[in-house]
Amino acid sequence: MNNLIVSQQFASNLTEEEISKAFSKALSEKSLVGPEDAALMFYDLSFLERRIRQMQDLFPSDTLHAIALKANPLVNMLAKTKALGAGVEVASFPELFLAEKAGFAPSAIVFDSPCKTRQEIEYALQAGISLNADSFDELDRIAELMNNISSESIIGLRVNPQAGTGSISSTSVGGVFSKFGIPLNDQRERILEYYLKYDWLQGIHLHTGSQGCPLPLLVEGIRRVMNLAEEVNESLLLNERQNRITTFDMGGGLPVSYQTGETVPTMEQYLQALRSACPGLFSGNFKLVTEFGRYIYANAGWVASKVEYVKKERDHHIVMTHVGADLFLRKCYNPADWHHRISVVDKDGNLKTGTAKCKYTVAGPLCFAGDILASGIELPMVEEGDYLLIHDAGAYTFGMWSRYNSRQMPAVLGYTTEDYSFETLKQRESRESLLDFWT
Ligand SMILES: Cc1ncc(COP(=O)(O)O)c(C=O)c1O
Repeated sequence: MNNLIVSQQFASNLTEEEISKAFSKALSEKSLVGPEDAALMFYDLSFLERRIRQMQDLFPSDTLHAIALKANPLVNMLAKTKALGAGVEVASFPELFLAEKAGFAPSAIVFDSPCKTRQEIEYALQAGISLNADSFDELDRIAELMNNISSESIIGLRVNPQAGTGSISSTSVGGVFSKFGIPLNDQRERILEYYLKYDWLQGIHLHTGSQGCPLPLLVEGIRRVMNLAEEVNESLLLNERQNRITTFDMGGGLPVSYQTGETVPTMEQYLQALRSACPGLFSGNFKLVTEFGRYIYANAGWVASKVEYVKKERDHHIVMTHVGADLFLRKCYNPADWHHRISVVDKDGNLKTGTAKCKYTVAGPLCFAGDILASGIELPMVEEGDYLLIHDAGAYTFGMWSRYNSRQMPAVLGYTTEDYSFETLKQRESRESLLDFWT
């Protein structure tokens, strides 16, 4: 497919008209939204598919796109991404279990965790699941296990490129110090020694950070690690060694837009920048792996949450609604770094666009003062029974679901915009399952 056409056709966010249209269609199907569904999560599956196809079209065709499971752990969604030809990146052993349950082949799973136990490593090696070691100690553990296992796993090493940090410190992992990976500048010699020492070490991995990392920083991280990979391969050749780094895992991190009018880099721009700064990536000498999460899911998902009350206290208009820090953990605990646009629709899903706007605080249902989704935002007049549509909520939301106050996780519905057919990706959490969790 022509890459230029792909990116021109591709909008970065769903508009409020698009999501309110989908919501009114869902409301009109009586069996979809019941009286207990005070909040619901939706995915535009057509948008999601376009994002995945675009990524596949832009990268070399043999690239493994291991989509970060933490961004969206729904098993039904994993099965959909698998059907579209994607792989999956897992950051814990339970995530590995979910990936297997969703049907991913071992060769399509990349196991990244900074805290793998011996048993977990052994399992991955035996199953032929790729894994990236986070430290020299982990490499030595793998070496012990490899004495007794003949494994088909691609084993890589996570390197911290030490290229710098982005604007959000809690999601930046490519600075001078990071809890992840082996720092490239500090340990260059030792890294080379390890590639000479272990001939099964054939992959290299980095992830500079997520959201808040500008494109030049992401590219610089990859450039540094590509230079290292090429240096390692030259050194192995000089030492007449047979092994080479053949897999280059560039992580994820492409930022998305959460604000109206915000300009974020496109996947196409990312590829252009990589082609010019790191031509080695496209030399054919490396099989590429990507680990995008937010870019795939964030803009495809949105939440509808009923307005239960509108309180007026002094100068404040407070909208009380059914999601808060349970679903939007990052926004509520770190409000300066995160943002979600909010639109208002009436009880039938009709978009409210009235000019009579008022400033609102949008508060969730949880029992703590920080459970605030937005402060001082201008919205059309909000009334009891309306719904708030919370945009760009498809990544790192229910994956970070908080059990505080024992709220039941809302149902998740998917739809296609071809015919607005809806499917249930996850049922609303039952009281029994809640009880199971706490028992
Ligand atoms: C190792 C690794 N890979 C991939 C990702 C996905 O990043 P993003 O969702 O920003 O693309 C993360 C996010 O934390 C990560 O830590």
